[in-house]
Amino acid sequence: MAVPDPWWTSTVIYQVYPRSFADSDGDGVGDLQGVIDHLDHLVNLGVGTVWLSPFFASPQEDYGYDITDFCDVSPEYGTIDTVRELIEAAHRRGLKVMFDLVLNHTSDQHPWFRQSRSSRSNPRADWYIWRDGRGRGGRRPPNNWRSALEVRSAWQYCPDRQQWYLATFLPFQPDLNYRHPEVKAAMFDAARFWLEMGVDGFRLDIFGSVLKDPQFRDNPFRPRVDGTQTRLWQRPHTENTADTVAFARELRAVVDEFDGDRVLVGEVFGTPDVLRSYLGQPDHPGLHLVFLFDFLAFRYQADFFRSRIEAYEREFPAPMLPTYVLENHDRSRLLDRVGGDLAKARTLAVLLCTLRGVPTIYQGQEIGSANTPIALRDARDPIARSFFGWVPEFIAQRLPERLNRDEVRTPMQWSGGPGGGFTTPGTVPWLPMNHDHRQVNVADQTDDPGSMLELYRRLLHLRTGRASLHRGSLTLVPLDPAAPDVLVYQRQVAGETTLVAVNLVDRPQAVMVPDEAEVLMASQGPVTVAGGRLRLPATSGAVLAVVPPE
Ligand code: BGC
Ligand code: MG
Repeated sequence: MAVPDPWWTSTVIYQVYPRSFADSDGDGVGDLQGVIDHLDHLVNLGVGTVWLSPFFASPQEDYGYDITDFCDVSPEYGTIDTVRELIEAAHRRGLKVMFDLVLNHTSDQHPWFRQSRSSRSNPRADWYIWRDGRGRGGRRPPNNWRSALEVRSAWQYCPDRQQWYLATFLPFQPDLNYRHPEVKAAMFDAARFWLEMGVDGFRLDIFGSVLKDPQFRDNPFRPRVDGTQTRLWQRPHTENTADTVAFARELRAVVDEFDGDRVLVGEVFGTPDVLRSYLGQPDHPGLHLVFLFDFLAFRYQADFFRSRIEAYEREFPAPMLPTYVLENHDRSRLLDRVGGDLAKARTLAVLLCTLRGVPTIYQGQEIGSANTPIALRDARDPIARSFFGWVPEFIAQRLPERLNRDEVRTPMQWSGGPGGGFTTPGTVPWLPMNHDHRQVNVADQTDDPGSMLELYRRLLHLRTGRASLHRGSLTLVPLDPAAPDVLVYQRQVAGETTLVAVNLVDRPQAVMVPDEAEVLMASQGPVTVAGGRLRLPATSGAVLAVVPPE
């Protein structure tokens, strides 16, 4: 008998940013009970997995990505019991649950770091990455490694130890030292703690940075734009090292101790071959999935998407799966990337939900949420605050990417009323509600056939209902020279073929399709097939069944 594919091969991931999803107790901060209360929204939408950004004990300087206890819950979100209830409530509805595992660093308030920084001889002295400085009195950083933001050194001086500690992300997030066996053991135990409770997997925060060069060699200065990221320094000694790739396999062995299929999804950055290396080999597997961020920085052109899909089909052949992302809690909303053009956002929704792999949707994406403009001076986000004062506001507002991540983290828009359905009317939410919540919200879009929500809902239910869409192969149909702006691909399992056509220009287009194609749904009407010609309206996508002749 054939072994069924693991659940995650046909799932769709929905990212919840708990602080901004739903506030059940009226303190202005989203919480885990709020997530429980809205699980049915996810079921109706048609996603299979909910990934929660961190809700663990934290001083919230980076809103949960700075952790002081990996096995406890920050009180504003709930308690360990609420987590348990959340997992159970999700499982009762057939949803899987993923947590965010922040391995690379802790908060500088973590008791481990407090101890580590206190002297060079305490029992946790080597739990973090400490080095002597260079130059007279060691007052220069140990080497040239830059923090994630590149504008400053990744090293922070600590007067108590007269040494420097490494902080790859922000200064208050010291990197753990995974070359110390006790650190690795402690963090693997933290993962086991949640796996035992029943969590179905983890999203792995900045996983590519976990192990650095043991010789602390300088990174080369070589400015380069690699599609999703612009970098001044290449990072061979701090990112995607062979040791980090090997570590992926060790972590995999930890989740494989548990019954059932627990999934690991890496947040890693690099070229397709580097990303693929994290998946390991069949006899020595690594992560199950890695996010592909190319679509966060797209050119809105058919050849851009075609070339990315071609690359990932080549690099991630089945049973490997691509994991495309259009939005997350760090980057601009899709709608703003397409200049507010809803038709374009809808077209890309068709693409995301019909490609091979595991689509990931960020809360609010399903209703077409826009960025909420928030000035750097008003930012809560520590990245934005670090830019305030030296990046003028008018420049910050014109950059293609948001410097202030608050803009994509404002409360989920459940309704048009006061509090937006996020919090109790009269309560001031931790970040302002986008004013557009009166027009853009879940309640008004529910059952509105023309809404973004209804489009996502139909796409995801179609995906679940058609085997070719959730587990079929993908073949790009050769470009039709008469319609180079239309991207066409076929999804196929034995006995079922689905055709997807996406028109990326602002003019109606026609492409040749098999005679037996029937339209299942479209982001925009009217779509017609006659005499083997599919006519698509301007800026639209359509999904068709290819019905074999009797
Ligand atoms: C997360 C960010 C977070 C950072 C540090 C990331 O890449 O997505 O939100 O600030 O890691 O943990
Ligand atoms: Mg609350």
